[in-house]
Amino acid sequence: MRLHRYLKSCMVDAQGGVLMANHNFWRGEKVRLRAIEQQDLDECISSPEEPDQWDERANAEIGFPVWREKDRDDTAALRQRKDGSFEWIIENNEGQKVGYIGTFECDGRVGTFKYSIIIKRAFWRRGYGSEAIRIVLRYYFRELRYQKVTSQIYAFNEPSLRLHEKLKFLHEGRLRRMVYTNGQLHDQLMLGMTCEEFDQLDPPMPLQP
Ligand SMILES: CC(C)(COP(=O)(O)OP(=O)(O)OC[C@H]1O[C@@H](n2cnc3c(N)ncnc32)[C@H](O)[C@@H]1OP(=O)(O)O)[C@@H](O)C(=O)NCCC(=O)NCCS
Repeated sequence: MRLHRYLKSCMVDAQGGVLMANHNFWRGEKVRLRAIEQQDLDECISSPEEPDQWDERANAEIGFPVWREKDRDDTAALRQRKDGSFEWIIENNEGQKVGYIGTFECDGRVGTFKYSIIIKRAFWRRGYGSEAIRIVLRYYFRELRYQKVTSQIYAFNEPSLRLHEKLKFLHEGRLRRMVYTNGQLHDQLMLGMTCEEFDQLDPPMPLQP
């Protein structure tokens, strides 16, 4: 019975060889990525985040307080899939919603894309952010054939800068005075990684189980 279930869970090629054991691509060791559900939107709307709370550093501005109707529109827009972009909820192994990751500016012709990620402050430094990024990079490089990812980081965003350096993104440039917030101008840093560089760091899984 176990063998039957195992065989059913394998994809078999024309010669009868096993291509890939069943494996939940979207689940890592610490997090799983899942689509945004209606319940997530309802929860956002019933308790909107204050704009200057845990996600403040992802924004280049301090916003006005959120009103529910606007929040409803914003969160509903998250579900719209445009070009090759997508948005996921990040859940930990306990099933807690710990953050969000979403791709944008996905150019399928050139093969470039960007993403934004937010981990709730209470869950920082547990490896959730880096694992979520690695899962998304695997998918975009190895399933969708993108070849280059870029991350735009505000120069004052130390956690994001350290995270991307630890993931071995390379510094590609500094755009001066691109951001204004809290009475000050800030630079924007560009960090990037090619699919070949990612393969070196995170070798593709073998097809044979
Ligand atoms: C940046 C962010 C996504 C990091 O998420 P995270 O889950 O805490 O990151 P990880 O636990 O995977 O950290 C991996 C490594 O990044 C570095 N790092 C992460 N946060 C750091 C911090 N606050 N200070 C210094 N280094 C940090 C560390 O090297 C860390 O490894 P270590 O904990 O073993 O030392 C999170 O801080 C966040 O959501 N910030 C607000 C939103 C934001 O800035 N998004 C990115 C916009 S570009």
